Amino acid sequence: MKIGILTSGGDCPGLNAVIRGAVLKGIKIHGQEFVGFRDGWRGVVEGDIMDLPRQSVRGISKQGGTILGTSRTNPFDGGGPEIIKAHMERLGIDAIIAIGGEGTLAAAKRLTDVGLKIVGVPKTVDNDLDATDYTFGFDTAVQIATEAIDRLRTTGESHHRCMIAEVMGRHVGWIALHAGMASGAHAILIPEQKVSLEQIAEWVNDAHERGRAPLVVVAEGFVPEHLESPHSVRGLDTFGRPRLGGIGDQLSAQIEERTGIETRATILGHIQRGGVPTAYDRVLATRLGMAAIDSVVDGHWGTMVALSGTEIVHVPFEAALGNLKTVPQSRYDEASILFG
Ligand code: F6P
Repeated sequence: MKIGILTSGGDCPGLNAVIRGAVLKGIKIHGQEFVGFRDGWRGVVEGDIMDLPRQSVRGISKQGGTILGTSRTNPFDGGGPEIIKAHMERLGIDAIIAIGGEGTLAAAKRLTDVGLKIVGVPKTVDNDLDATDYTFGFDTAVQIATEAIDRLRTTGESHHRCMIAEVMGRHVGWIALHAGMASGAHAILIPEQKVSLEQIAEWVNDAHERGRAPLVVVAEGFVPEHLESPHSVRGLDTFGRPRLGGIGDQLSAQIEERTGIETRATILGHIQRGGVPTAYDRVLATRLGMAAIDSVVDGHWGTMVALSGTEIVHVPFEAALGNLKTVPQSRYDEASILFG
């Protein structure tokens, strides 16, 4: 059996570990053959592939990015099921493992519905996909953000400033919540929670009065109460949606005005998605890649592998689509006891 693997959408630390896990298990246990589609669905609709022999995955689980490349191509634009089927037939590819986020899995579902043999592996640093407890890449992003915030703290303390770290999280605040808790932030601001500028200023003042450098962690999609949208638009994201920007800078001005404390904002941006994955993400990603081979062998088309507790399970694509996994109120309430 010949299997094509693709990585699509925004990249994420751990993608290469998924590829390695799938290729090694497929070759060693089932004698399968592998190819990679270059740049996500673009490679699928154009039939652009590279061979993935065993030696091609040697040592890659610790590499950031994806050896296959990625893109924001939608397989239904300039492609579609018939063209894809024709390429697969010509290239002798029997099945596809699609590694991607919600957009990728939605496209994979549509293609499976018309007869293509596809299984999915969920991916996002934002950890906002339903039907899986954690996505690989999230732990790495939290680690990078935490290290950065720890550094902001020491420079903030030297200058008696308030420091703001803007982290990724367009719709959900998982990275902000975890990195903020880990680094002992005095305020964590996430898209799921409306918080007033007065409340934020109070937390900042409280920390300042105790002689601390106030540390605010804000997810890029946060909107303060009573403000419609404080964001500017920084181009389009991987799926053509407006990329938000500027909440850190906006907050910085508002905090300075309300507290009189000199404030600086840092946008961590794509640093959170780059570089070496943590050991946790490597292990999770490897297990997901290996489990995707089981899905292929069992013919579980239209399903994705997922983490449930400590087990890897198989769930239908639709379980991951439609609803984002947001930060529950109880998790925010728990964290907010530590604010101020
Ligand atoms: O991977 C998800 C995410 O990190 C979002 O938090 C962010 O808005 C988006 O990707 C930006 O992605 P890109 O700049 O690659 O389009």
